[in-house]
Amino acid sequence: MPTTGGAAYIGPMTMTPTSTSFAVTERPERRSAEEIAQLLESPGFGNLFTEHMALIDWDREQGWHDPRVVPYGPIQLDPSAAVFHYAQEIFEGMKAYRHADGSIWTFRPERNAERFNASARRLAMPELPPTMFLDAIKEVVTVDQGWVPSADSGETSLYLRPFMIATEEALGVRPSNRYLFSVICSPAGAYFSGGLKPVSLWVSEHYVRAAAGGTGAAKCGGNYASSLASQAEGIEHGCDQVVFLDAQEHRYVEELGGMNLFFVYADGRVVTPELTGTILPGVTRSSLIELARERGLDVQERRFTIDEWREGVASGEITEVFACGTAAVITPVGRLAWNGGELEMAGGHELTLSLRQELLDIQYGRAEDRHGWLYKLV
Ligand code: COI
Repeated sequence: MPTTGGAAYIGPMTMTPTSTSFAVTERPERRSAEEIAQLLESPGFGNLFTEHMALIDWDREQGWHDPRVVPYGPIQLDPSAAVFHYAQEIFEGMKAYRHADGSIWTFRPERNAERFNASARRLAMPELPPTMFLDAIKEVVTVDQGWVPSADSGETSLYLRPFMIATEEALGVRPSNRYLFSVICSPAGAYFSGGLKPVSLWVSEHYVRAAAGGTGAAKCGGNYASSLASQAEGIEHGCDQVVFLDAQEHRYVEELGGMNLFFVYADGRVVTPELTGTILPGVTRSSLIELARERGLDVQERRFTIDEWREGVASGEITEVFACGTAAVITPVGRLAWNGGELEMAGGHELTLSLRQELLDIQYGRAEDRHGWLYKLV
């Protein structure tokens, strides 16, 4: 049974289907393999979309219904649709990887399905049975499998963006009575246009991303919208991304808004901010904790101050810092700047790059999937 959402959510209970049957309507004229190959030559990130999308509707009377794959295109909504006004919107970020034998896989999707439902509960939206979440991805990737970059194309993959929006036409501030779930797909190269070069980070002192009891642990569009002003401030100061500190004391390092952070010490300790409810529980984050522990490293999930960061780099105890997330995988951090100062990381990023390689090798099927993290799509 799907469980119901947050306290405000009252909806029908529907049986969890073991597999969802999608009605598939293909575009009458599909792009040729040559056209797709040309588009995949340098996809960038998030600018190019495949030919189809998955959709499932929800309303209070019927629960989830009408699962379908249709040609990719605009979704028609009334201007009063709740998502436009009160931002009931959640999403996930995942990737489909082509292996050398042509098969297509994704990584720990059940984690994304679980997190999607945790986000749904926080935003008083209906939960989606995980089988439907997985089936929607499988279905749309099957129809658009020609868009998954080849195994020898470097680090290109098909980025998957499941999301849910409130569609009811109503301006009352309350949970919507109707929702749309969708999965769209975007062939993707490196998240950062500079490729794998260390990123620079700006410490946001005016803005916070999340406070205790807020939506920091949910993957909702509002968190990203509220990060944009600080991101702009970071860019003005010549930085690529922003580091957010805790809302109460402004000294504990939280995350980057789109990525989690790790600090590597010369003595084999690896520290990452603990999940206090204000940080997004990243799937890449939890996978790296496991991979690093398997190497015998002492991975500590704990609160970590901005002063520990500054002092650790200055004393040489911290040798590497990296950020991680589905889109960017693992990115070395090269510089930290704040109002009145900056520091450069001296390290060669050895552990960062080696963990990155290990993770990519698992995802692309070049290394044994000893944790059972891969899920076959096609
Ligand atoms: C991801 O890493 O998939 C994210 O969701 C970060 C960003 C692209 C929103």
